[in-house]
Amino acid sequence: MSISGANASVWDQTRDQLAAVTPPSENSPTLPPACYTDASVFDREIPAIFQSSWVGIGRADRWESPGDYTAFDVAGVPIIVLRDLDGVLRAFANTCRHRGSLLLEGSGNCRAIRCPFHGWGYRLDGRLAGAPRMETANGFDKDAFGLLPFRTDTKDGFAFVCLDETVTDLDHWLGDFSELHEMWSLGDLVTGRRREFEVHCNWKAFLEVFNEYYHLPYVHPNTLDSLYELPDDIDHRPGNYVSQFGTTKSTTGVLEDARDHALPPIPGLKGRNRNGTRYTWMFPNMTFAAGSEAIWAYDVYPTAPDRTRVSYARKLVTGWSGGVLDLLDAVLESHSLDDLGEVV
Ligand code: FES
Ligand SMILES: [Fe+2]
Repeated sequence: MSISGANASVWDQTRDQLAAVTPPSENSPTLPPACYTDASVFDREIPAIFQSSWVGIGRADRWESPGDYTAFDVAGVPIIVLRDLDGVLRAFANTCRHRGSLLLEGSGNCRAIRCPFHGWGYRLDGRLAGAPRMETANGFDKDAFGLLPFRTDTKDGFAFVCLDETVTDLDHWLGDFSELHEMWSLGDLVTGRRREFEVHCNWKAFLEVFNEYYHLPYVHPNTLDSLYELPDDIDHRPGNYVSQFGTTKSTTGVLEDARDHALPPIPGLKGRNRNGTRYTWMFPNMTFAAGSEAIWAYDVYPTAPDRTRVSYARKLVTGWSGGVLDLLDAVLESHSLDDLGEVV
């Protein structure tokens, strides 16, 4: 059998198995194994899910000042996300309208974008500002050669991009997300620190494990498991997200000796929400744990069936800034999961 024939047969089998995976999750088998390993499934997921959804790209304060930009791939499409000179968050194809050169790499701050190949220059709102010697080309219309835009939007401090213009707007996409999370004042939180890393597993495995309690007694017996009580039932709410709340025995300080000097609760939290954690997964690729003092947020980008790039923002606290935030960051270092050498 040819390789393509073998892949087709894996997909045919997987598609039949997937027919049984239907809501509610309590009555459903898990996804078939090929969904976590096989290239023929992965190749279908990228257009079907990542090119057809509002994809999370992290916290909006990552692009804090006018001119801040990041170039990265979403669903195999090179994009630029930037804050323009009027403070508007925008996304464009990272492709010059002349001969398709990549325009920007990495992150930084710029006042305009100049193509490294022949020098076409673009304003941060995407308009073509200048094209050397193109005035000699008959009928050349600068206004027709702006950068190709993608929709961006924000919700409660989280930023999203959508590559498919037929998808509904973000408010409809997320349903009642804001109502459920209102007490945490997510829009007011600021990022204390962020970092990126790669994990050697399928993107869904990373997100699923972050959102489950089942492994806590075995993987985190001395930290999370000693702190977390059994969670409430899953909240089935309108919108492309799922959420679950569980109370904790004390604060969300993970180490026992850190629990007496945790941060004060996020203002506005009341009742059980002052003593617990809400885990939320915004489909397809962004998740966070909202504790009573801070939240931990991840956005993930599949790069291969068994490789995932992860962007992590942590210690998002209300009303703290500058040196105070640095100080808190150092204090919190003592009870962050990654410093404990544990995995999600
Ligand atoms: S490819 Fe960008 S100016 Fe030619
Ligand atoms: Fe874990």
